[in-house]
Amino acid sequence: MELSQRILGMQASPIRRLVPYAEEAKRKGRSIYYLNIGQPDIKTPSGFFEAVRAYSRDVLAYGPSDGDPALIDAIIRYYRGYGMEFGRENVLITYGASEAISHTLMAVCDPGDEVLVPEPFYANYKTFVQSVNAVVVPVTTKAEQGFHLPGREEIERKITPRTRAIILCHPGNPTGTVFTRAEMEMVAGLARTHGFFILADEVYREFVYDGLEYVSFGNLEGVDEHVVIMDAVSKRYSACGARVGCLVSRNTELVAQVLKLCQARTCVGAMDMAGAAALYDTPVSYLKEVNDEYTTRRNTVYRALKRIPGVVCEEPKGAFYVVAKLPVDDAEKFIIWMLTSFDVGGETVMMSPAEGFYATPGLGRDEVRIAYVLKNEELAKAMDILKAGLEAYPGRIAPVAAG
Ligand SMILES: Cc1ncc(COP(=O)(O)O)c(C=O)c1O
Repeated sequence: MELSQRILGMQASPIRRLVPYAEEAKRKGRSIYYLNIGQPDIKTPSGFFEAVRAYSRDVLAYGPSDGDPALIDAIIRYYRGYGMEFGRENVLITYGASEAISHTLMAVCDPGDEVLVPEPFYANYKTFVQSVNAVVVPVTTKAEQGFHLPGREEIERKITPRTRAIILCHPGNPTGTVFTRAEMEMVAGLARTHGFFILADEVYREFVYDGLEYVSFGNLEGVDEHVVIMDAVSKRYSACGARVGCLVSRNTELVAQVLKLCQARTCVGAMDMAGAAALYDTPVSYLKEVNDEYTTRRNTVYRALKRIPGVVCEEPKGAFYVVAKLPVDDAEKFIIWMLTSFDVGGETVMMSPAEGFYATPGLGRDEVRIAYVLKNEELAKAMDILKAGLEAYPGRIAPVAAG
């Protein structure tokens, strides 16, 4: 039986691909610091579970396709706190941010259309773009420049009559980059001039450090018809398993069209929506505590990386990831070697090879993504092990001496 070229052309998740090596290492008795996946260890607010436990009906029935009105209203109030006014006609509840992304792409792309994506990017963007037979057009960003966007002309060179959208992750996974207002205005200007959508993935909105000003694409003027925000409770409230997200846009025509897709999959889980609505009542002190915790973790990881000879990275300002260039022949080989052949006192480290976060062949081969989602002491140990691993690795490349 033949499968579609579309599905055969998709890559397996670069985040999960090396899991068999980790399982083998565990079988051999090694313990592993998992820095490969963005699964936070922070406690989910108890309000979620209380609301689920209190959810009692005679029949667990379908809910509304656009989402539970109590949840939609909670989300509208939440956005008001960020200076954005939305009504119920602007919000659709989705199965995580993932479904908001895939539904939006379905609504804006025809086969053969092009989607600009700054690389390195959240790897699933590529799968979602491919699933609608559209094409990722990468806009390369660099570790040395903190993965900020290149200038307007460079992006403009990638725009063609088939460009339908740009996807931006802000703050960025895997880069940790928080775009400046000037960069965002530049993107807004391009979207207006060339008539494409801005798909703003803002699931890490609360994970911005060092008191940096946070601006949402929904705060920008003059792009109401262009901006689609894709969001979720997954990271904000450490509720990845709830599978509740949303699509938010002032383009009511787009929202009305996407509703057809929501109707086709009937509704998001009713109990999960009830739990998610309760999450939005979590005191803001929770978000502040989580932000403080991640700032500490970021500092531990970044400072340790900067002390390792040959490692290149800029301080990440948001999300909970950092992409680092390592002095190795091939980052994937190095990660596998760490799992199969290296440990310090029976402990080793797992990271994600960054190559899978790029669309341009060959880029990211010497880079890894580190998710700083473990406790601070564990991260400190993991960084010591990484340093020792880099010293012992046979494929190590000697750092070029300065001057
Ligand atoms: C940038 C980004 N967007 C979307 C998602 C998926 O979010 P959800 O779990 O809400 O579908 C993730 C998950 O890691 C992510 O990092």
